[in-house]
Amino acid sequence: MKLKKSVVVVAAALIAAGSLCSLSLPQQPEGPKNLKVLPKDISHDQLIAVMHNFNTSLSVKCNFCHAPGKDDPKKMDFASDDNPHKDIARDMMRMTDSINTNFFKGSATMTVTCYTCHHGDKEPVSKPAEGQTPPPPPQQPASTK
Ligand code: HEC
Ligand code: HEC
Repeated sequence: MKLKKSVVVVAAALIAAGSLCSLSLPQQPEGPKNLKVLPKDISHDQLIAVMHNFNTSLSVKCNFCHAPGKDDPKKMDFASDDNPHKDIARDMMRMTDSINTNFFKGSATMTVTCYTCHHGDKEPVSKPAEGQTPPPPPQQPASTK
């Protein structure tokens, strides 16, 4: 599918952006079971790199989007969709992909990522803070007449 391909491109761009940290990888020997946006054959390393990018872009931990396990709440159930933030994130992935596909047409330098809006904040600020005035217009250069 076309969408999946371009998601891989975005994922690759995110990986190339290099904002990955070196947390220890969870054990997932049997591969992902519940991917609806990312390509189903994504490698484990790529998947985890995308996830770490989410963490750093929003300044959250994995449990912001993933639900605890039903049997052992100390472990996360990554395949579960019980945490509503996971589906919001899926929509965000589709939105980001659509912005890049439709408006940046695959340009490598102009790529919108989670970080473009989120800047390390889970709730991006949409307007200037209360009372913040815009910067004054630039001074007119003194007339030389
Ligand atoms: C901002 C939300 C978000 C954060 C934070 C996040 N994830 Fe995810 N994760 C998702 C979404 C959304 C999917 C499903 C993607 C899809 O449907 O293609 C997913 C899928 C996964 C899967 C595949 C599960 C399966 O079997 O289908 C694993 C494993 C995973 N995440 C691990 C992690 C780890 C480890 C971290 C922390 C380093 C993490 N995630 C942080 C949103 C997040
Ligand atoms: C075009 C800007 C934009 C991009 C790109 C973007 N987001 Fe968002 N995101 C937002 C806005 C705006 C909100 C709503 C924040 C609020 O509720 O105040 C939001 C909310 C969210 C939330 C819910 C946060 C909460 O507190 O409930 C998650 C999770 C999320 N984004 C994940 C992502 C991920 C993952 C990506 C990259 C795949 C992404 N976003 C890309 C603008 C963006």
